[in-house]
Amino acid sequence: MQNTAAILFSAGAEISGATIPMTTTDMKEDGEPTRRDFIHIFGAATAVAGAGAVLWPLVDQMNPDASVLALSTKEVDLSAVAAGQAIKVMWQGKPVFIRHRTEEEIREAEETPLASLKDDDARNDNISGKADASDENRRINPNYMILVGVCTHLGCIPLGTTQGENRGEYNGWFCPCHGSHYDLAGRIRKGPAPENLEVPPYEFVSDTVVKIG
Ligand code: FES
Repeated sequence: MQNTAAILFSAGAEISGATIPMTTTDMKEDGEPTRRDFIHIFGAATAVAGAGAVLWPLVDQMNPDASVLALSTKEVDLSAVAAGQAIKVMWQGKPVFIRHRTEEEIREAEETPLASLKDDDARNDNISGKADASDENRRINPNYMILVGVCTHLGCIPLGTTQGENRGEYNGWFCPCHGSHYDLAGRIRKGPAPENLEVPPYEFVSDTVVKIG
């Protein structure tokens, strides 16, 4: 019986740009391929094309499409958020707090002695490397404090964004689950939470539009 491998590893024919090899023993004496050889050739060509057809969707799936990229970032227009107000938006399945701080709130956050902080790390995704948790290292525009709204203790969502909610002893955010108090820069000041609220990656694309992610 004709060996298919022998067919595949010798000089051959071209089908849709792919070279399908043949041996001289696959041919009639007049040089024409036999019917059986044609079945082998066709089978090999189909297998190559089939593998390509299966592989391409798999490879293509690995490239993030526009909708996935759009989900990884979020643009928020802050023009309607007055000083003293805050909003909560969802980004990558997580709440993000955005507070438009008043001049007095900014001053209070900036004047907080670093020695009084429980966590001295900026925990700011916009800063590479180590940085202290001063207010300057926790934001880009001092007017807006932007934080991932997930308590660093056990993951509850702290209060303090919606009007009238308990903002804790430091006028920032309060996690009622076990009593963690965060200040106006989202820094942990009291309670069991070990770390400051995370500052997500973001940039301002205009004076009042921020792109998170
Ligand atoms: S989860 Fe926030 S204090 Fe425990």
